[in-house]
Amino acid sequence: MNIATYVSGLTLLSDQVSKREVEIILRELTKTLDRHVVGDVVEFGCYEGTTSVHLAYFLQATDKHLYLYDSFEGLPDKTAFDESPAGMQFKTGELKAAKKQLIKNLRQMNTPMPRIKKGWFSELTQTDIPVVISYAFLDGDYYESIMDPLRLIWPRLSPGAIVVVDDYANEALPGAAKAVDQWLQTHTAALSVEASLGIIKLPE
Ligand SMILES: C[S@@+](CC[C@H](N)C(=O)[O-])C[C@H]1O[C@@H](n2cnc3c(N)ncnc32)[C@H](O)[C@@H]1O
Repeated sequence: MNIATYVSGLTLLSDQVSKREVEIILRELTKTLDRHVVGDVVEFGCYEGTTSVHLAYFLQATDKHLYLYDSFEGLPDKTAFDESPAGMQFKTGELKAAKKQLIKNLRQMNTPMPRIKKGWFSELTQTDIPVVISYAFLDGDYYESIMDPLRLIWPRLSPGAIVVVDDYANEALPGAAKAVDQWLQTHTAALSVEASLGIIKLPE
């Protein structure tokens, strides 16, 4: 499928991601599919499914399962890493999504229903995530909301897996880049940046 054509015809469910970002997210997912990277797909911070519905669509003809995670309570408290004059609008409890609305949005795609887990990322354990992961989209906005999933999924990532982190280049949410940069000081992977996304590729 031509991803640019697919995305140009879309009306996104919210402004949480841009069409350009959805295009990149789907392009990177497709790379892992074309290269037969082993494992399932996860999204941490699914909100009402703006991105998830398209991940589900692109996975429907594969043997991969999609796992979605969210507090459904909105954002947690900021840490010092997240403070930014440009990001004053991000407050505890903002972006609270209803799980029912997420399910409704997913049903409209007529794709297999993803596994949805409600909870704070810091409270998730290895039993909550797939045994092997090929692709991850991290969109928790804050330092700990990126760091916690990185810590959780890293041992489960396949060779050649890709992790896309939203807001890497967003001055309103500086914690996302701080978490990624700090993580990559002690873990081997290649980082590139496109739009606001940090794209982490593990060695093959
Ligand atoms: C920017 S929104 C995600 C947008 C979504 N990816 C989309 O495409 O519509 C951030 C989401 O992350 C969730 N979130 C942030 N930090 C979290 C944490 N530590 N634990 C669980 N959920 C968290 C919020 O509840 C919110 O729904």
